[in-house]
Amino acid sequence: MTSPHQHKTYLITGGAGFIGSHLCRTLLNQGARMINIDNYNDFYDPALKEHNVKPFLTNPDQFIDKRVDIQDIEGLSEVFQQWGPHIDQVIHLAARAGVRPSLKEPRLYLETNVTGTLNLLELMRTHQIPKMVFASSSSVYGSRTNPPFREDEDISKPISPYAATKVMGENLLYTYSHLYQINVVALRFFTVYGPGQRPDLAIHKFTRMIEQGKSIPVFGDGSSQRDYTYIEDILQGVLGAMDYTQKQFDIFNLGESQPVRLMKLIALLEEALGKKALLDYHPMQPGDVPLTCADISKAQQFLGYNPVTPITQGLHQFVDWYRHQAPQSLLTP
Ligand SMILES: NC(=O)c1ccc[n+]([C@@H]2O[C@H](COP(=O)([O-])OP(=O)(O)OC[C@H]3O[C@@H](n4cnc5c(N)ncnc54)[C@H](O)[C@@H]3O)[C@@H](O)[C@H]2O)c1
Repeated sequence: MTSPHQHKTYLITGGAGFIGSHLCRTLLNQGARMINIDNYNDFYDPALKEHNVKPFLTNPDQFIDKRVDIQDIEGLSEVFQQWGPHIDQVIHLAARAGVRPSLKEPRLYLETNVTGTLNLLELMRTHQIPKMVFASSSSVYGSRTNPPFREDEDISKPISPYAATKVMGENLLYTYSHLYQINVVALRFFTVYGPGQRPDLAIHKFTRMIEQGKSIPVFGDGSSQRDYTYIEDILQGVLGAMDYTQKQFDIFNLGESQPVRLMKLIALLEEALGKKALLDYHPMQPGDVPLTCADISKAQQFLGYNPVTPITQGLHQFVDWYRHQAPQSLLTP
């Protein structure tokens, strides 16, 4: 069966990152051409980003890699000048991610996540590119404790600069969609994990530290809960969003709707690794939310989204990747 993505051209931002590189692989396999805008910054070891895109670079007609910063409007304009008439959709994943580091560098988060998004929207407007799929985050829900979280809930109280930039991003997208008829789908990802996961995120960080015999930091009493979502499930939702045409502007949660307590996650990871973790307790961190849990009924109804990966299976896949495929520089202390 031919894929609807065959012979399509997508401009992706952040295509060298964790989620972006998985999406590139899927779309390249379906015959799409990808123009990747990524600045390969050192938020985490850029060797992982290089490792992610290496297989794509063998096919430079299908994967066009542009090392451009989304804050650099001139650099971006050149890419749009060259490719604008061919671009079917923009998939905007590039961002400064992570809650805790955003407290240290709020300006950088704002400039990347908000000004960078504005730059892309302005270029989409001038080059008449009809659609953007945007990576938003469960963090927009703030410190809510009444699960599951629905897309129509109030998100006016983000509790970290990172979360605030994602709320602002969604707002800007709405404005451009309203003013210039750009079709927009914002996807609120709930803690994504799997092979290639960002090294700063709990599952990857804990795995590295347990493997190295180091104690892992536990913030709070271990009762915080996260709706961990496996990368293959997320991809299904992103592809659904790319095909979605019902509304000019819409928002969907992509989670598993199965929150896992931190202590439970550690126990499952110990099982997957066959090793015990040493725990180092710290107070809850400012900006961290106690719970995330997605109501996914809207994505199920409109995107055909159907997450299927239990956490035990996903953790085994991650550990297998970490032990056998991760770049060497990630394994060394
Ligand atoms: N991974 C998760 O659990 C999660 C959860 C919620 C939302 N998100 C969002 O999904 C998106 C992808 O997340 P990820 O985990 O793959 O992160 P990632 O850091 O692995 O990928 C982001 C990519 O964007 C690039 N980038 C960052 N700033 C840039 C800039 N100024 N110009 C050009 N490129 C830039 C980075 O180099 C990186 O390759 C992000 O927008 C993130 O906020 C992720």
